[in-house]
Amino acid sequence: MDQDFLIRKIEKYADEKGIPIMEKDGINFLCEFIKLNKIKNVLEIGSAIGYSAINMALVDQDITVTTIERDKDRYIEAVKNIKRLKLDSRITLILADALNFNTSEEYDLIFIDAAKSQYIKFFNKFSSNLKPRGYIVTDNINFHGLTNSDKSKMSRNLRQLITKLEKYIIFLNENKEFKTRFFEVGDGVAISRKRKNKNG
Ligand SMILES: C[S@@+](CC[C@H](N)C(=O)[O-])C[C@H]1O[C@@H](n2cnc3c(N)ncnc32)[C@H](O)[C@@H]1O
Repeated sequence: MDQDFLIRKIEKYADEKGIPIMEKDGINFLCEFIKLNKIKNVLEIGSAIGYSAINMALVDQDITVTTIERDKDRYIEAVKNIKRLKLDSRITLILADALNFNTSEEYDLIFIDAAKSQYIKFFNKFSSNLKPRGYIVTDNINFHGLTNSDKSKMSRNLRQLITKLEKYIIFLNENKEFKTRFFEVGDGVAISRKRKNKNG
């Protein structure tokens, strides 16, 4: 079966089962970024069923991806999908809560796409695993257009989630070590890069 067909199958499966995967223009944007910046190794927080990891690995034959997922059923599905696409030699799947997973590896790009309430924790924990001029990419910054919108009619849980995302945006904007740019693509993407110096 050809790659495109298998990828469409994963999209259909995610849609039918209600599994959140990256929006089409978001994943295209991320893959283009990986290509343009010659990214070779990626750490992803939040694999779901392997859709974004597969797409990133397919950008170039010498890209490797390490991806962490805490949900066992999704992890098992991701293992199958990665095998079907014959990418198991280049994608390493880890079944773990990312906040309990430690590595000394360094990456060109860290992609955060897991529990939105924990974004600051993921950023702080894994920024030491970034190569000196590497990037941290975060998805769902706009959360369906809800960040920076009126919260009065939202449920308590949603309000708390949106407040955490807004705090994350402030955290990125005020971060002295990283410079962040925000892109209105997919569900909103932030790209943070370590500054060379205070003005960089
Ligand atoms: C939005 S989905 C990831 C989608 C995937 N990146 C894609 O586009 O194909 C988020 C995933 O992160 C996982 N997750 C949430 N918090 C996590 C954590 N602390 N550690 C590992 N995985 C986590 C969830 O189980 C969920 O499957």
